[in-house]
Amino acid sequence: MNASIPVITIDGPSASGKGTVAQLVATQLGFHYLDSGALYRIVALATHQQHIAWSDAPAVAECAKNLNIVFVDEQVLLNDKDIAYHIRTEAIGKGASQVAVHAPLRAALLDMQHHFCRAPGLVADGRDMGTVIFPKAPLKVFLTATTAVRASRRYQQLMNKNQAANYDDILQDLLDRDARDQNRTSAPLVMADDAILLETDNLTISQAVDFILQKYHRFTQFPA
Ligand code: C5P
Repeated sequence: MNASIPVITIDGPSASGKGTVAQLVATQLGFHYLDSGALYRIVALATHQQHIAWSDAPAVAECAKNLNIVFVDEQVLLNDKDIAYHIRTEAIGKGASQVAVHAPLRAALLDMQHHFCRAPGLVADGRDMGTVIFPKAPLKVFLTATTAVRASRRYQQLMNKNQAANYDDILQDLLDRDARDQNRTSAPLVMADDAILLETDNLTISQAVDFILQKYHRFTQFPA
């Protein structure tokens, strides 16, 4: 990895809005974008298709090593088939959070994530971007919102996509995912010591984007 390439990491819990914010920050800066959650979702889908149990750590990691994944604009190609829609379902999201607990899988995905770091820069979103994958990133943001707000946002997203949604189920699922992400031994969801906390309950998407861009521009003027 080239240390001179700027990296902005945006970590946080499920449905905090970090994906949307990270993508917009990347677009504004003309940077590459890594949606690391998509990698875990792809693994959940691929293992499901190959009848591998999400609890089978060695088999899940082995499957991940052999995947041919390409991101092109909005498309996610797995062995040349666009699976962008299929990895966004609630069932695959749940599977992603289950495979993500396995240390061998996380190790198998390390190089792939580092390869996203290319000039002119990278915005990386996930759970461990600032703590494990890009620990030297000059700007780290921990973006969060209360569970109730996150559940409402997820509910609204599903309604907008005409997908069946039940608020109580969504809330319970978020609590389960938070617990799994925070309590796993391998790369748990924690805020990096040098990250900036961004609470978004009362912020619009563009306010969150502007906050991060301002921090970034300040950093480029006055590097630490
Ligand atoms: O961000 P997204 O909801 O798409 O991520 C799906 C799942 O992948 C999360 O619930 C989390 O358990 C896992 N994940 C992870 N580490 C990352 C990104 C996602 O463990 N860097």
